[in-house]
Amino acid sequence: MRSWEFFLPLWAKRTNMAKDKTAYVCGSCGYDSPKWIGKCPACGEWNTFQEVKVGKKTASTVTSEFRLDVKSSPISMSKIETEEEPRINMGDGELNRVLGGGLVPGSMTLLGGEPGIGKSTLILQTVMRLKGMKVLYVSGEESARQLKLRADRINFNPNPGLDSQSSNVLVVCEAMIETVFEHIRAVEPDLVVIDSIQTMATETVESSPGSVTQIRECAAMLLKFAKESNTPVIVIGHINKEGTIAGPKILEHMVDTVLQFEGDQHYMYRIVRAIKNRFGSTAELGIYEMVHNGLRPVENPSELLLSDVKEGEELSGVAVACSIEGVRPLLIETQALVSTAAYGTPQRSATGFDLRRLNMLLAVLEKRVGFKLPQRDVFLNIAGGIRVTDPAIDLSVIAAVLSSNVDTGIPRDICFTGEVGLSGEVRPVSRIVQRIAEADKLGFRKIIIPKANMNGLDKGKFKIEMVSVRKVEEALRELFG
Ligand code: TYD
Ligand code: MG
Repeated sequence: MRSWEFFLPLWAKRTNMAKDKTAYVCGSCGYDSPKWIGKCPACGEWNTFQEVKVGKKTASTVTSEFRLDVKSSPISMSKIETEEEPRINMGDGELNRVLGGGLVPGSMTLLGGEPGIGKSTLILQTVMRLKGMKVLYVSGEESARQLKLRADRINFNPNPGLDSQSSNVLVVCEAMIETVFEHIRAVEPDLVVIDSIQTMATETVESSPGSVTQIRECAAMLLKFAKESNTPVIVIGHINKEGTIAGPKILEHMVDTVLQFEGDQHYMYRIVRAIKNRFGSTAELGIYEMVHNGLRPVENPSELLLSDVKEGEELSGVAVACSIEGVRPLLIETQALVSTAAYGTPQRSATGFDLRRLNMLLAVLEKRVGFKLPQRDVFLNIAGGIRVTDPAIDLSVIAAVLSSNVDTGIPRDICFTGEVGLSGEVRPVSRIVQRIAEADKLGFRKIIIPKANMNGLDKGKFKIEMVSVRKVEEALRELFG
């Protein structure tokens, strides 16, 4: 039997504002105070406090009732019984992996991302595919008709099991959280989706939807519902321009899992990253491609990120790096263009790579191999519109720059991995075996790796030829003689 009937505003419990019915809440982090303050003691922001009226429903009776609810007693750690967390299979390998093996019953998951990135599409296509689960999809943003149009669009997907006609997805367009709970009570869903938390509002607080207090209050109610009924809740949240989930950090503290949906509007790739996960690793990520009929999971991202080059063809200024994103190895193309500087100050530009790091690598090149820094414009691009922070791509960047500089192509079946230090030494990288295995799997003939990574490496395991280098010069001698 579900015992979530009294979801009580946690807020009243915490602030005990019932008497004066006015509170001041920081618009940036959600910190509350009984009086106005100029600088928030929690997040350090200035002038963010807003007056918030607290409704009558958050009375102190509610608070005492809530306290009675807690009957806990300390228990020895060794006596706690553990069982494998049951998981709900989302029917999507990428999403399952990011969630740490599937959705946990009673968990609350927040999916954040910029508007238009595909959050609604991802969740809708996933819930439509769930078999034997009653899903309540609450939309505060789109009409039922719009949702149906989208569902039909996704439905052309050749993926088996995707059928909007026979699905168990119930759609309701509602923005009042109290009404949403009435629907939940009537429908008794197995999964609740809230699209989006910014559009939800509660009667208990007097502020506009999307404000910190409203978001916090609604999220607290949903969380309480999730925990008490053991029903998973997925909440969609928009990200503001600073890149944080608007309305803001407090949501991240409350929920069990925070997934971030990122990607460039101009590229098809979308990455789902776990930035917090109580039930799994945060190193995982899922990659999708936005196509005309929804989001297609990309199982082998390396193949997609490498441009289609014919056998034996060599492009100057292109080198393939074996990097690791999350826990997955990824082969990516680093493209460089080096040209004669026309003006006094040479130009430097980097897309998907840290410009300061590029400048550092160029300085290393100048020192070690006599690259004429002041006379050269250098443009660097990481293919596919992705941003790489893995330092192991340094070696590939250096190879691409020199390849363009001397206008000599690097054979397409060679790839690189290695961090470059200030004195031109090639430093070891993490998870070398995984990197080599990926390059081997994709049919590369040769991989250039740091010498220090050779220790204890089982060379016989791979077909690929391994060339280990200690200095940048050695790698370049290997390539250009
Ligand atoms: P949407 O899921 O509405 O984004 P969010 O909920 O994050 O705001 O995605 C909107 C974009 O996705 C829109 O620009 C159109 C594009 N799209 C496709 O390219 N193919 C599709 O099949 C669908 C449904 C959307
Ligand atoms: Mg949406």
